[in-house]
Amino acid sequence: MNHKGIEIASGMEISYRESGQGSPLIFLHAFPLASAMWEKQIETFSATHRVIAPDARGFGGSDGFRENETPSILQMARDLNALLDALQIEEEIILCGLSMGGYIALAFAREYSQRLRALILCDTRAEADTPEARAKRSENIAFLESHDSAAFIGKMLPNLLGETTRRDNSGVVETVRVLASSQSAKACRDALRAMRDRPNRSDELEDIGVPTLVVAGNEDGIIPIEVARATAAKIANARCEIVTGAGHLSNLENAAQFNAVSREFLDDF
Ligand code: MLT
Repeated sequence: MNHKGIEIASGMEISYRESGQGSPLIFLHAFPLASAMWEKQIETFSATHRVIAPDARGFGGSDGFRENETPSILQMARDLNALLDALQIEEEIILCGLSMGGYIALAFAREYSQRLRALILCDTRAEADTPEARAKRSENIAFLESHDSAAFIGKMLPNLLGETTRRDNSGVVETVRVLASSQSAKACRDALRAMRDRPNRSDELEDIGVPTLVVAGNEDGIIPIEVARATAAKIANARCEIVTGAGHLSNLENAAQFNAVSREFLDDF
């Protein structure tokens, strides 16, 4: 697997992992992580696809939002479009986004539907934040003014991972802790702002014209499975799969089942 960077605009480099050949399959990571969270999926799906997992702005090895820019999920979707251009990918892509990655995938589906072959939306929602959730984001932004990402993930971890993982899988707990702790506080603040201010996209679900798989962990404390089922119900050609023994980070918490349901979906193309 290769981890490299490419300039998508003047002075703006995005880093990404890439492996395999074939139809492009893109993985967009969750907050506050980076493309490394997709290691097991890259390993599995690079046997059949050209797998690309970018780091969102400020995360992993990617350059962050500049001081004069307003962080937004839409900009992150535009970054993906620019990355595809920079990599000269003209073929339609299969786009898989988890949580924040799902917010970006939904923005991309709206803006660049012509580039899309299929969608996988994991542990994510189309609705905007509630006023309470927005207030919590602002509180976390303030926390990250005086604390680093290690302190932040310490607070967040119980919500991110399901009970089964926290009890039985210290390897995944540590992977998430280490990966999140290595992200900058500024990247986290910018992403929190982008998520807090993202628009409601639930009315756009009915316009999604590509086959879609919605995936949810049955122990997800952030996005309940009812939300995942309702999301799938609004998309014309969608199905919903529940990953068991997994919380919000279903691809890491039960990689075997996550990969199996994704493989079954991808086999249709
Ligand atoms: C994520 O996993 O990307 C975040 O939990 C999403 C969110 O906070 O809305």
